Amino acid sequence: MAKFYVTTPIYYINDVPHIGHAYTTIAADVLARYYRRQGRDVFFLTGTDEHGAKIAEAAAQAGKSPQAFADEMVVAFKEAWQLLNISYDYFIRTTDPRHEAAVRKFLQVLYDKGDIYKGLYEGLYCVGCERFYSEDELVDGLCPLHLRPPVHYAEENYFFRLSKYQEVLLRALTTPTDPWHYRVEPLARYNEVLGKLRLGLSDISISRATLTWGIPLPFDPTQTTYVWVDALINYISAIGYGDDPATFQRYWPADLHLMAKDILWFHAVIWPALLIAAGLPTPRRIYAHGFFTVEGQKMSKSLGNVIRPAQLVERFGADATRYLMLSEFPFGADGDISLESFAKRYNADLANDLGNLLNRALSMVHRYCDGQVPAPGPEEEPDRALREAATGLFPTLERAFEALEFHVALEAVRQVVAQANRYVDATQPWVLARSDRVRLGTVLYTLLETLRLVAEALWPVMPSAAERMAAQLGVTLAPGGTWLASPPRWGARRPGERVTTQPTPLFPRLEERARR
Ligand code: MSP
Repeated sequence: MAKFYVTTPIYYINDVPHIGHAYTTIAADVLARYYRRQGRDVFFLTGTDEHGAKIAEAAAQAGKSPQAFADEMVVAFKEAWQLLNISYDYFIRTTDPRHEAAVRKFLQVLYDKGDIYKGLYEGLYCVGCERFYSEDELVDGLCPLHLRPPVHYAEENYFFRLSKYQEVLLRALTTPTDPWHYRVEPLARYNEVLGKLRLGLSDISISRATLTWGIPLPFDPTQTTYVWVDALINYISAIGYGDDPATFQRYWPADLHLMAKDILWFHAVIWPALLIAAGLPTPRRIYAHGFFTVEGQKMSKSLGNVIRPAQLVERFGADATRYLMLSEFPFGADGDISLESFAKRYNADLANDLGNLLNRALSMVHRYCDGQVPAPGPEEEPDRALREAATGLFPTLERAFEALEFHVALEAVRQVVAQANRYVDATQPWVLARSDRVRLGTVLYTLLETLRLVAEALWPVMPSAAERMAAQLGVTLAPGGTWLASPPRWGARRPGERVTTQPTPLFPRLEERARR
């Protein structure tokens, strides 16, 4: 079975994580869980980016050494990911000695090859972005993202011959049969990258003479590695470039680098060029999702509208937070979120539609069948329609997750749940209980199987809610751990099996939650 190596960016630790970081991380987790279910050999990487001027500044402000500051801040990231049920396989920190050794090894390869040379750098640098800007990229002399003036840099630096790779990159991007081929998605972003790449590439500075908080260059320890070069190498150091060739062979190239559009250029151009220079395969796919605003505004400390993962988890729970973040707008596009629309969707999709369906079905199985799965009788048209909708979820998920269309996958589940609720209203099991026990058996069996498949389908997005749902239904999801041995198919339940004795609300309505 194929492997699946997926990464998030490694996040700067100058501040505790917000839901922008959580957004990418949740998406990566959903894919990791989904492909583990498919039986693939998954490696899911996340971590923290701890060097550079930005972190040195933040540490100084906090009155701590950069390392002590990083050690403290990293805890907040690990806690947030635990709170959100993020199942990463490895958490990398760029201050790990193992990573530092890999960076030195990588840079030495490039140096020996002649792709690194010394020169004078003069330019404008934004510490917030950790990147250089040209005059015409600035807006009123300020960094367009951080709205602060860049600093003027003039020093002797080492450069990477990025310009040499323009043609190679263009060919790799546009030719599927090219040995260096990699995909950049979505299409609009791919076109942007190509357009900019066609304008030409300048060599980039890859070191700093005046900044000590970084990894010393192996061939000139008086200079430290530019934080972005250090950071990108995390994707290979984490899987053993440098010290574990077997694991490295097993997972490289990455199947998917996930990030937002703000840092696509580094991933889509600079990273592949560095890899090609080092003679290593390029990643298979690079996907830049959109940026979201909160109630129409950019999240920022100065506006005081930054939302932390814990706030959402406290209000909605981890499962619903994951669901809500991925349902609100298409993954590739920019979007907007608000607590109010989250609350509405929570009550509508989760408390009402899904929660009630489970509750109704289980109560009826208790009331009319003594808590046992009934034997199904002959199938009629509405039963067949619901069965086909429920089993049809899995091919839809397959396509949607492959295309990173999380909202499409979740909308498909929502549709099946809505159809099941209409089915209960139309078949009226409470009438059948008195008039037609055979038909009652078919209807309740159909509902139980639909709910089981819905739980299977929702698991990658809402793992613990799906498991609680399964426990109430009296089943285990993916027995054996994957869908290989036990694919999610209709009819696995045997009449006479029991459902749980005490149904409890899966997603309490928000007002009720607040009252408790
Ligand atoms: N440290 C670099 C990345 C190095 S990767 C080799 C960095 N870190 S960051 O902490 O600034 O994280 C940027 C990433 O956070 C974005 O690419 C995206 O994944 C996520 N997001 C931060 N804010 C976001 C939104 N408002 N909306 C969507 N994603 C957001 O850049």
